[in-house]
Amino acid sequence: MRVLGIETSCDETAAAVVEDGRRVVSSVVSTQHELHERFGGVVPEIACRAHIENVLPVIDEALRRAGTSLGELDGIAATTTPGLIGALLVGVSAAKALSWSLGLPLLAVDHLRAHIYAAWLDGQSPILPAVSLVVSGGHTSLFLTETALSHTRLGGTVDDAAGEAFDKVANILGLGYPGGPAIESAARAGNRKAVDFPRSWLEPDAADFSFSGLKTAVLYHCAGKNASREDIASVAYSAEFVADVAASFQEAVVDVLVGKACAAAERHHASSIIVGGGVAANGRLRERFEGAAREGGLSLYLAPPGLCTDNAAMVAGLGCLLLADGREAPLTVEAEP
Ligand code: KG4
Ligand code: ZN
Repeated sequence: MRVLGIETSCDETAAAVVEDGRRVVSSVVSTQHELHERFGGVVPEIACRAHIENVLPVIDEALRRAGTSLGELDGIAATTTPGLIGALLVGVSAAKALSWSLGLPLLAVDHLRAHIYAAWLDGQSPILPAVSLVVSGGHTSLFLTETALSHTRLGGTVDDAAGEAFDKVANILGLGYPGGPAIESAARAGNRKAVDFPRSWLEPDAADFSFSGLKTAVLYHCAGKNASREDIASVAYSAEFVADVAASFQEAVVDVLVGKACAAAERHHASSIIVGGGVAANGRLRERFEGAAREGGLSLYLAPPGLCTDNAAMVAGLGCLLLADGREAPLTVEAEP
């Protein structure tokens, strides 16, 4: 069974072909980082226009690399929710057109569940139930995963997502966009204990997250309490200062993500943890999860590094499962932000 997946929920136009829900036959991602960099974040109208320009060439390239023609496909999957509405609509419309014209089943994929499913694309078969953490630019969410298709939401961020905090702190430090990889690389030369930034644990048993206080603490530490936007943009920090702030900030985020995911696993008697989403590409987060899993006797399933940030392989993979389960979507299915 071969499914074409299409992903356009944010600033990556992606298409992939996955076989039997397990084998990534091709995966093409066209990022728009250069278009959004000077704004320090994703501009929805720009993202939408770029998706329109890129979606057909990206699909063609995914099919070409897979050595597959449209006629050899068994289904068309697209991310229908959540994301930027104008961006989602491009991928969903392309998928509907292909599904209708080829007479193939349409599969509607939830982006967060697809990020979790990326862990299955490494040849792993996670032991279930698991606690799943999705850490991305738009979401920081915990789920109890009963099967690859069935997840109960345990909690999520009440303000900024973890990736958003990485992007904003990178902006303060003048490190560019996207901020996650830039912070990770700056942090390598820094001291994690240089600044004792706050960790927001919320209620003792809460599966919710909050990162806006941490972001403000970084801002105050760097630019003072009364800094204006202009001040922030014009200050140039020493490389040592940037490295120390990046390392201390990253450690504060990682502490909370690892601590809360492990606590949730214990509370829900899950013996395994799954981690996916763009921030799951972070080496320090992966290292800390590996240590915590060893200590707690938990099985750990990290999404493969290349499938953490947005891609369509995770969409096509989950699409295969939906198809096998007979969960075809009607052509009237809507994109939902
Ligand atoms: O999953 P993703 O591609 O898009 C959303 O669904 O939001 O995640 C993008 C986010 C960005 O905020 C980016 O800064 C962050 O993931 N990110 C990282 C790393 N690579 C990407 N954060 C920390 N460390 C990284 N290595
Ligand atoms: Zn994502």
